[in-house]
Amino acid sequence: MFILYKVVHDLAFFTWDAGVTVVNLLTPSKDEGHIVPEGHPGFGGTWPEYIPPKEGDSRCSCPALNALANHGILPRDGKNIQFKEMGRVIRTTYNFSATFCYFVPHYAAEMLGKDYGKDTIDLQEIDLHNGIEHDASLVREDAALSPDQSKPHVKYITELLASASGKDENGNAVLTAQDLSKFSAKRRADARELNKDFTLDFFHKVFGSTNASTMLVAFGGRVKDLETWLLEERFPDGWETKIKSRLGMTFAKFNTTIAKVELGIDEKKYLEEKKKAT
Ligand code: HEM
Repeated sequence: MFILYKVVHDLAFFTWDAGVTVVNLLTPSKDEGHIVPEGHPGFGGTWPEYIPPKEGDSRCSCPALNALANHGILPRDGKNIQFKEMGRVIRTTYNFSATFCYFVPHYAAEMLGKDYGKDTIDLQEIDLHNGIEHDASLVREDAALSPDQSKPHVKYITELLASASGKDENGNAVLTAQDLSKFSAKRRADARELNKDFTLDFFHKVFGSTNASTMLVAFGGRVKDLETWLLEERFPDGWETKIKSRLGMTFAKFNTTIAKVELGIDEKKYLEEKKKAT
């Protein structure tokens, strides 16, 4: 019975996502400065006050959720958050589609054995190892080496941003899909060597590339903005998401970026180059 429910649920979900993708193709994109809807925090690039987390506040491995709590868009203590609320603010802040904003918190609720409609969550609970959180992350050390996943790992973030090989139209440094694939290959190979409890199955590889790809679609890979977001978990003044489609980034569209990043990851090549360099 549960399997039948899953099949119907997933079929309905992907039909919904495809429908939203078609509407996006047929409607004009949002105008710059008007991506966050009027009346919502961040409209016109004006973000509520940033206050870094205090002792006792709940934070997690996700910079996107921590930034929302640091600006008070989610509760500042990071506690007792409804799954639907999480989706609602991701929709208005980052302009991911309603389908994405339903699916990810719903997946998190299922992973934690919670009721999506009724239960609440503290951000730290999201760090369940090998739930969504996994080894070889780009901005956190592995959980076995650093059980507190709530804080940015400055060394990895600095290295990642320094690897940016692209430039935007104004000459600013930009991370490309190839940069993310290369850095992911390095993290996977290095973590395999460093962490005796290392695991990374196919699903978690794809989760990894999905998270990495958000930096391309929501930030255009812009190093300056990512520096603030990843290191301080703060929105830069005047920042707005680079996702402009009318109904937000759907899975159908996002999958092309995710596939590009994931398929470009070549651990063997990284190890060969490392060997040559020593
Ligand atoms: C309710 C929605 C979300 C949930 C439950 C969630 C959960 C997570 C979790 C558990 C991780 C840790 C994964 C790891 O071990 O590497 C993570 C990382 C991350 N997430 Fe989220 N996330 C959500 C929404 C978002 C959104 C909307 C964005 C982008 C705007 C985003 C961007 C990222 C990034 C960049 C990372 C770091 C990846 C890494 O270190 O390799 N997330 N998220």
